[in-house]
Amino acid sequence: MTTTDAPDLATLFSPEHRADPYPAYRRWRENAPVAELAPGFLVLSSHEACSEVLRNPAFGHAEPGDDDHGPLGSGRPRGSGTSLVDDQGRPVISFLGLNPPDHTRLRRLVSKAFTARTVAGLVPRVEEITAELLDAAVDAGDVDLLGALAEPLPVRVISEMLGVPAADHERFAAWSHAMARGTDPAFLLSDDILDTIATAREEYVGYFRELAAERRAHPGDDLLSALVEVSDGGDTLTENELLVTCTLLLTAGHETTVNLIGNGTLALLRHPEQLAALRDDPDLVEPAVEELLRYDSPVQLTSRQALQDTTIGDVDTPRGTVALTLVGAANRDPAAHEDPERLDITRPPSRHLAFGQGIHFCLGAPLARAEGRTALRELARRAPNLRPAGDPVWKENITLRGLATLPVTLR
Ligand code: HEM
Repeated sequence: MTTTDAPDLATLFSPEHRADPYPAYRRWRENAPVAELAPGFLVLSSHEACSEVLRNPAFGHAEPGDDDHGPLGSGRPRGSGTSLVDDQGRPVISFLGLNPPDHTRLRRLVSKAFTARTVAGLVPRVEEITAELLDAAVDAGDVDLLGALAEPLPVRVISEMLGVPAADHERFAAWSHAMARGTDPAFLLSDDILDTIATAREEYVGYFRELAAERRAHPGDDLLSALVEVSDGGDTLTENELLVTCTLLLTAGHETTVNLIGNGTLALLRHPEQLAALRDDPDLVEPAVEELLRYDSPVQLTSRQALQDTTIGDVDTPRGTVALTLVGAANRDPAAHEDPERLDITRPPSRHLAFGQGIHFCLGAPLARAEGRTALRELARRAPNLRPAGDPVWKENITLRGLATLPVTLR
């Protein structure tokens, strides 16, 4: 593949890039780590620049009413919206797409319901579901790893966590899948796809409106009941905030974890000595998951908008400038990671940006880690002869990098 020295949209969205974005990232990082792709639109590929933007409070998300900027639209993640509007007709945005003080308030409320204890309590269930799925996969012998493990594990965990009855898990998975596509820039998506996303969002919100009413009347011990009841010094979530938070937890928590398990398994299959090391020493799974998050990040990029005139390094960024942070590229930056193109599951803790950084750092990181560790440890243990059984196929998503299928044999 020929790639240009500086980022260009045609390369970023090409099928070759989807299969392996890292050669292009490398050239861009070496030649133009802070590249102006169009006036007011920057693409960042170094660890330093991405980290700076994610941590700098002068960068955030477009405020409602701000004009869209840059070829990718506003700095607001598209997965952060729904079809909901407030009393004044303004769209309701999840806290992923909000700035302080609204972000601070909502994140604090949700964190009170979604605690380390919530996650610790889920681990035995994550192990049970993994065992069930892997038993069936080992029996079948040849499977698509995505359908057999990577997809069903996170969707069942998050559905059970929110208190969605088992009979609805499939519908739930379909909505989630459709909404994940909405994290990509809208100009890449056909009208059909945009319609599918909009319908999925509406159905999902309608479904949760009913489920939330039911939990209000009869609270259970699930996260939805906790969110319904959560309060902080008298402050509570409004109905719309509750619904948009449920959408966020599903979109932020499902497809990302699918991609950690899928991309992680593929990387291990392509480095059999690393897979063997994990099989021989299951305790390696903790550093292994961090390394796999770094090596082939489930979330490849995010974006921010300059909320005031500011700088990135020595580059002036006037208010309104949109910065696309290629965290997938930052995670292969030799200035931050020794020998970054090498997969090494024994690597000491690294400063990877796979969960973001700063005030929007992934709220679900403990859960994602628990699922990734369980899935990969058990896969290595229960399928000692795990091998590829065909070519992997990548999904079309750009923001969320992941496989559609990964044929393997577990015999
Ligand atoms: C391997 C799996 C995951 C990855 C790679 C991942 C990655 C990320 C990243 C990069 C961000 C920051 C985005 C930005 O700054 O624009 C983020 C935010 C977030 N993630 Fe995750 N995530 C994962 C799993 C989960 C799970 C399982 C949940 C919950 C069930 C979750 C919930 C959230 C939430 C609520 C935010 C918004 C935080 C905020 O805005 O303050 N994530 N995630």
